Amino acid sequence: MKKLLFQLDTDPSPSTFDAVVAYDGGADHLISLPGVTPESCGPAVEGVIYTRGPAHKKNSALFVGGSDLAAGEALLAAVRRHFFGGFRVSVMLDSNGANTTAAAAVALMLSEHGGAEDETPLAGQAAVVLAGTGPVGQRIAGLLGRAGAAVRLSSRALDRAKTAAERVSERFEVGCEPVAVSDEPSLAGALDGCRIAVATGASGVRLLPADVWREHPDLELLADPGTTPPSGIEGIEPFDRDEARHGKRTFGGLAIGSLKLRLHRACIAQLFESNDQVFDVEEIYTLARSLAG
Ligand SMILES: NC(=O)c1ccc[n+]([C@@H]2O[C@H](COP(=O)([O-])OP(=O)(O)OC[C@H]3O[C@@H](n4cnc5c(N)ncnc54)[C@H](OP(=O)(O)O)[C@@H]3O)[C@@H](O)[C@H]2O)c1
Repeated sequence: MKKLLFQLDTDPSPSTFDAVVAYDGGADHLISLPGVTPESCGPAVEGVIYTRGPAHKKNSALFVGGSDLAAGEALLAAVRRHFFGGFRVSVMLDSNGANTTAAAAVALMLSEHGGAEDETPLAGQAAVVLAGTGPVGQRIAGLLGRAGAAVRLSSRALDRAKTAAERVSERFEVGCEPVAVSDEPSLAGALDGCRIAVATGASGVRLLPADVWREHPDLELLADPGTTPPSGIEGIEPFDRDEARHGKRTFGGLAIGSLKLRLHRACIAQLFESNDQVFDVEEIYTLARSLAG
C-alpha cells in the first residue's frame, strides 16, 4: 500500500523544501494543499481518516507547514479536533522549519556538553536568544527553558520581545525574560551572565560582533542556525560543530542544518509507523536527541 503524505500548508504556495523532504523521508506520494486554515481543513482531514482500514491507516499521514508558526499551531489543533477513536492518522507540525531547526540546534549543543541523559542539563545557567521573536528563536527559547536555563529573549523592540516571551512562557510553561537590544550597551546587558548565546535573527543579519563574544567572561556556547552570509554571530563558520574558538564552543548553521534535515526525514519516516502519533516540538526534540547523541 502506498504511503501518502498530505501537506496542509497555511501559505498560498506550499513549501517546496517540505515537499522534497517528504519524499526523502519515505513518502511514496505527496499531496500538497495550499492555504489551509483551521476552518477549511475538515474535508481534507476526514478524507484521510475515513479511507483506510485500521491495519492500513498508518500509511496515510499529515504534515502541517507554512511560514507562520502561530497559524500552523492553530491548524494542528483544528486537525486534531477531527480525530476520534481509531479515526486518526499521524501528524507532524514544522511551520517555517521551526520545530526541526530548534530541536536540532539545542540537541546538538547539549549532546556535545553532557546533556544527553539529563532532562535539565542547563539548570542554574543563563541563555540569551538574540532576535528570538521569530519562529526558530521562540522554539529555541522554549527548549532551552525546558532544559532548565534561565532564558532571555531579545528583540529590537521591547514590546515585540514581551509578546514573544509570553508566547514562549505559555507554550512551554517556562520563564522567559524579554529584553530590548538596539545598541552595544543593551547587547552587553543582554549577554551579561549568560553561558549560552544563540542568534536567531532573519537571514543575513549580524547580531553579535566577534569582539564582543571573544573576550566575554561568561559565554561558553554560541550557536547560529543561519546559513546565509553574513552569519548572525561574527566568526562562527557554517560547519562548526562544537568547534573551539577563542575558548568558546561554536555551532554553525550548516552543522545544525545537517542534523535538522536528518531529523526532518526521520520524523517523516516515523509518521508511517503507526496512525496515532503527533510530532510537535517535544516529540521532535526527543528524536533529535537520539540522532545527535
Ligand atoms: N540551519 C537551518 O537548517 C535553518 C532552518 C530554518 C531557519 N534557519 C535560520 O534561522 C534563523 C531564524 O529564522 P526565523 O525564520 O525564525 O527568523 P525571522 O522570523 O525571519 O527573523 C527573526 C527576527 O529577526 C529580527 N530581525 C529582522 N530583521 C532584522 C534586522 N535587520 N536587524 C536585526 N534584527 C532583525 C526580527 O526581530 P525583531 O523585529 O523583533 O527585532 C525577527 O523577528 C534565520 O537565520 C534562518 O535562516 C536555519
